[in-house]
Amino acid sequence: MPTVYQQMSSDDLAAALADLRAQVDAVRARGLKLDMARGKPSPAQVDISRPMLSLVDAASDLHDGSVDCGNYGCFEGIPSARALAAGFLGCPADQTLALGSSSLLIEYEALSIFWRAGTCGNAPWSAYSTAHEGRPVKILCPVPGYDRHFGISDDLGIENVPVPMTAEGPDMDEIERLAASDDAIKGIWCVPKYSNPTGVTYTEEVVRRLATMPTAAADFRILWDNAYCVHDLYDEGDELANIFEIAREAGTEDRMVAFASTSKITFPGAGIAFLGASPRVIAELSGHMKAGLISADKINQLRHARFLPDMDAVRAHMRRHAAHLRPRFELVERTLSAGLSGTGCATWSHPRGGYFVSFDGPAGSAKRIGALCAGMGVTLTPAGATFPGGHDPADTNIRIAPSYPDEDDLAAALEVLVLATRLAAAELAWQERA
Ligand SMILES: Cc1ncc(COP(=O)(O)O)c(C=O)c1O
Repeated sequence: MPTVYQQMSSDDLAAALADLRAQVDAVRARGLKLDMARGKPSPAQVDISRPMLSLVDAASDLHDGSVDCGNYGCFEGIPSARALAAGFLGCPADQTLALGSSSLLIEYEALSIFWRAGTCGNAPWSAYSTAHEGRPVKILCPVPGYDRHFGISDDLGIENVPVPMTAEGPDMDEIERLAASDDAIKGIWCVPKYSNPTGVTYTEEVVRRLATMPTAAADFRILWDNAYCVHDLYDEGDELANIFEIAREAGTEDRMVAFASTSKITFPGAGIAFLGASPRVIAELSGHMKAGLISADKINQLRHARFLPDMDAVRAHMRRHAAHLRPRFELVERTLSAGLSGTGCATWSHPRGGYFVSFDGPAGSAKRIGALCAGMGVTLTPAGATFPGGHDPADTNIRIAPSYPDEDDLAAALEVLVLATRLAAAELAWQERA
């Protein structure tokens, strides 16, 4: 769709450019200092969980059933935390581990184990390249996606292969084609519910195809990062099909490695994190992890399990988060619609949960929009961050993180984004004519 600026006469476009530049100068003069880059809960949201801090104190019984949380032991996590893990991940509790505070660290550890030790009797991923004339191990990366996932594979020397996201989830035709044809492709990064940053929840068909597709690599792994599994903005949340059940029926459960944490539920960086996998893979991962860990912080697990004793309690708690987040997401929708609808200058996602809105300007605009916003005092997630290597080939995508700023600051930052997008689009239209 052409932008309004592409459709103007040259005289009108020159006038529009002058007007937009004057508006940018006026905003610059206001000396704003706003941040729309941080995908973290606001201070008021974090405060919702403060009562949890009083649930375990000097007088508390430190037992979870027969487990003494005040001492070593119970590597796999305390029973009540593993019951929560099962609720989050959709697999039986004895196929879970409740560990420390970061799911990302567990993801890094699981991939590192596959890299150095292999999985289910297959050669270590690190040996593949030598055995196959230097061809690198690869992992599929739905894009736009989560930069830290790409960072983990990159750090291990695994090549990230971008695959486009659609409104239903990753482009399954492309994924099936790649996974079936190349045994160097060892897995896929997935954020299946309220995906980071598009907010897309994978449809049942996508989940089924992922679980059942033929893969050339016998040790293909679905890295199922269900970071936003309970992060609904509305009472009626998106439904995500249970991939463990589908995979079990299809005989592919060993393909599954699932993750989640309470980072955006209780305290980011001080929550508890979960891993789920088939009986065989969970035993294998536990075996390696036990080499370096006697037991995780079970007192923090106890605190969490007492605060959030079951999934009903989790859902009630998340409704309180939603009360903070929903107005911010609705503000994003209103402001972008008012400023950009019908201009052809941008499209954006309309998530019903999670933490982000994915915004696309015209081809070749995202870096310029980021720079214009920075010049007006608004920090965005760097353009390109949602693609492996920070390289967005079309230079369109920007991740909007509306959770942290207060509503006035968010409104001001969004107005700046609208202005920057209009100016970048007008500049592109002008360059096309030069
Ligand atoms: C998809 C996804 N996974 C993992 C994380 C980090 O989780 P944790 O704090 O449990 O390491 C984030 C944080 O933004 C995320 O968006």
